Amino acid sequence: MRPLIAGNWKMHGLSSQLAEIEAIAASVKLRPTHADVLVCLPATLIARASSLAAGRIAIGAQNCHSEISGAFTGDISAEMLRDAGANTVILGHSERRQHHGETDAVVAKKVEAASRAGLLAIICIGETQLQRKDGKALAVCGNQIAASLPDSMSMSVNAVGYEPLWAIGSGQEPTPDEIVEMHEHIRECLVSRLGTRGRTIRILFGGSVNPDNARAILALPEVDGALVGGASLKATDFAAIIGVVPAEP
Ligand code: 13P
Repeated sequence: MRPLIAGNWKMHGLSSQLAEIEAIAASVKLRPTHADVLVCLPATLIARASSLAAGRIAIGAQNCHSEISGAFTGDISAEMLRDAGANTVILGHSERRQHHGETDAVVAKKVEAASRAGLLAIICIGETQLQRKDGKALAVCGNQIAASLPDSMSMSVNAVGYEPLWAIGSGQEPTPDEIVEMHEHIRECLVSRLGTRGRTIRILFGGSVNPDNARAILALPEVDGALVGGASLKATDFAAIIGVVPAEP
């Protein structure tokens, strides 16, 4: 499967940082890669970034509302993100689940909204440290997948992002065996739910991915890419992670 290297800028980025997007796009132009490259930005930067990216890298968003439009002050619909130049949206990130009370059911509605608008969705799941200690990690993530995928088969899920909460921004990461065990479990869940289509959905690992550990993580079975937070903010770091994937011949 063609890997996906996705950056998530979270709530970082002013106009001045658009130079990083230009630099990432330039690095992909210089060394065409056998990966899809995506950066999910704050909504305020999407339109300008997508014209700077000039199709060399994809630009995405980090959340959307489930409705097309309406009296939802401060919210942004999937259609608006698409209109601004996004082609993908991250949904159900643990920070949205934690700080905005997003449940699996809310995430499923947003996935439907993304499909409706023609956006690809990256659905995020992950367990807490306590859940892992209690031996519940596989069950927690399996349940999140089951409930966060909408029933409609037309949904455009591009990827599932496995991001253990305790690995995000902490410099900690699961062992290679733990990553493989979880990614294989996610694959089984996707195939039992979606049949052969479940094999076409990329499973990304996220949580403290950086230029030093990316090669080892991306080489693991069932790891189809990375979801990168902090290390996606600097073009040099993000380009180094992209550089782990072989160049296009
Ligand atoms: P870090 O790479 O900063 O740990 O963030 C991971 C993440 O949450 C990406 O969505």
